[in-house]
Amino acid sequence: MLPQSIEWISERKILKLLDQRKLPGEVAFSLCKNSEDIAQAIENMTVRGAPAIGVAAAYGTVLAALEGRQAFFAAVERLSATRPTAVHLFWTLEKMKKCAAETPDSEIYAALEKKAAELLNEDIEINRAIGKYGADLLPDNAEVITHCNAGAIATCGYGTALGVLRAAREQGKRIKIYADETRPRLQGARLTAWELLEDGFDVTLITDSMAAFLMSQRKIDAVLVGADRVARNGDTANKIGTYSLAVAAKHHKVPFYAAVPFSTIDTDCEDGSRIPIEERSIEEVVKINGKLAAPEGVKVWNPAFDVTPAELIDGIITEKGVVRVPCDLKNLWRKQNEN
Ligand code: MRU
Repeated sequence: MLPQSIEWISERKILKLLDQRKLPGEVAFSLCKNSEDIAQAIENMTVRGAPAIGVAAAYGTVLAALEGRQAFFAAVERLSATRPTAVHLFWTLEKMKKCAAETPDSEIYAALEKKAAELLNEDIEINRAIGKYGADLLPDNAEVITHCNAGAIATCGYGTALGVLRAAREQGKRIKIYADETRPRLQGARLTAWELLEDGFDVTLITDSMAAFLMSQRKIDAVLVGADRVARNGDTANKIGTYSLAVAAKHHKVPFYAAVPFSTIDTDCEDGSRIPIEERSIEEVVKINGKLAAPEGVKVWNPAFDVTPAELIDGIITEKGVVRVPCDLKNLWRKQNEN
């Protein structure tokens, strides 16, 4: 059975995080006792994946609230500065701020703890709903390429893109998955290949540069990825390498889908050019397994995400259905919230 990515131990006031840096070699956990521990765990990618980051941050504010309202606000600020691209982090912090604003000081810790638990449980329900809609898009004997890790461990459970594969299997469909290794941090190789193998899927690992050739050689039924932020015109930020996969999919007429909770749609963000893209340390690129794999002193550019233009995306799979893009996601969001 897969370990839980995030577990709140209420009686000890500790957030237990699966240490994703150590996979696949070791299933280890990191115990966070305060909001700074959680902020650092997000920055150093002990916990990663947009929904998992959001819920971890929510618990960061719970722990800070033990020291009062001022500490809560300081934690919100600190946690907001950890990783800029995934909008789920900011969406979650807004929810926690609203909860704090509606609660008297004496009850703030209990109210925030309850809210964070709600967000954690809702995330799993949302992923199951995404899975159901997405599974209908896949035929039996589907061959699917995925990138990075949008699985159970990137969320609070079940996963978004990998949740779609789980739901397809629950419908009785046979699925073959190709996992892109996802340079430079290898989330595809270290995490997706591991998660899918643990869960008994038929998974084949490829390097990122093999995906286009694979599409030319086999009938691939879909490319299925998660996302960190979707602008309101449908432009979608996800792990670096997603854009080139979408370009190759368009060329080979392979449907390209992003599976996301509705909260990943940033209706304030007009288009992909406004999405902040995190740049990470050059070490991630020049070193492999801690050893230099490039000449010392070489210049490096290391954006952690890219933006896939809406016109390359055939559908955004949400918990409320599949959105065909381009479309005005802001209007759609408004309509969904009226229902
Ligand atoms: O840098 P990471 O590993 O946090 O990036 C994760 C991704 O890009 C995922 O595809 C995305 O967050 C969706 S997770 C359900």
